Amino acid sequence: MKSLKKRIYRLLRFQKNKQELISDQDLIDFNQVYPLIDQIPGFLKSPKQEQWFFKAARHAPPEAVIVEIGSFMGRSTASFAFGCMGSSKHVYAIDLFEGDNYMYGSGDFLKTFNENIKACGLEQFVTPIKQNSLQAASTWSKPIDILFIDGSHEYEDVKADFYGFYPHVKKGGIVAIHDIKGKWEGVIRFWKEVCNSGLLDNIGMVSSLGYGTKC
Ligand SMILES: C[S@@+](CC[C@H](N)C(=O)[O-])C[C@H]1O[C@@H](n2cnc3c(N)ncnc32)[C@H](O)[C@@H]1O
Repeated sequence: MKSLKKRIYRLLRFQKNKQELISDQDLIDFNQVYPLIDQIPGFLKSPKQEQWFFKAARHAPPEAVIVEIGSFMGRSTASFAFGCMGSSKHVYAIDLFEGDNYMYGSGDFLKTFNENIKACGLEQFVTPIKQNSLQAASTWSKPIDILFIDGSHEYEDVKADFYGFYPHVKKGGIVAIHDIKGKWEGVIRFWKEVCNSGLLDNIGMVSSLGYGTKC
């Protein structure tokens, strides 16, 4: 009995790890582009998250629509866009691109974003949208395969971003939220609510990135 339990636990652990693991070919391809991604400043704390974006885009359906809220200088955008190479998948990068004179600094971030995407040779896979995320949500019409939320980290804002775009996510599409672990209490609180809401299935986590699929 004990050994059967052990075997089941081992099998479950293996299944879990298998889901987290990136295939050998994906890893080889990711490692080739990572030095380019890593030249872009940003807020991702672990290469595992960049790897996850790359893999999610690569395994998304052909012609997938990827929507990112909060692109900053393009680090997460480039990670997704490298996974789109050789396909018609596309990343829509929504950001105010104006900084905040505080955490993000100030300047013409759209110019920097475009330069970074160009330096990676990814222009054909990326469309920047310089707009408030809620304004963008109010006119959005394309069905979304992957939604990544990393804009304002205030509770009400992350909630509004989620509910603004969630209706556009295809059934089975991926929703990911950054900073569900660490110091961002509003994001952590909202993520807990989402996990208990029944709106997402297959919930997982990579470093401080939480993700799930639309039920
Ligand atoms: C944490 S940064 C994004 C980091 C980025 N994902 C990366 O890989 O480095 C958050 C970004 O969200 C943007 N942002 C904040 N509130 C926003 C809003 N309401 N609409 C659009 N963008 C917003 C900021 O301008 C900032 O660039």
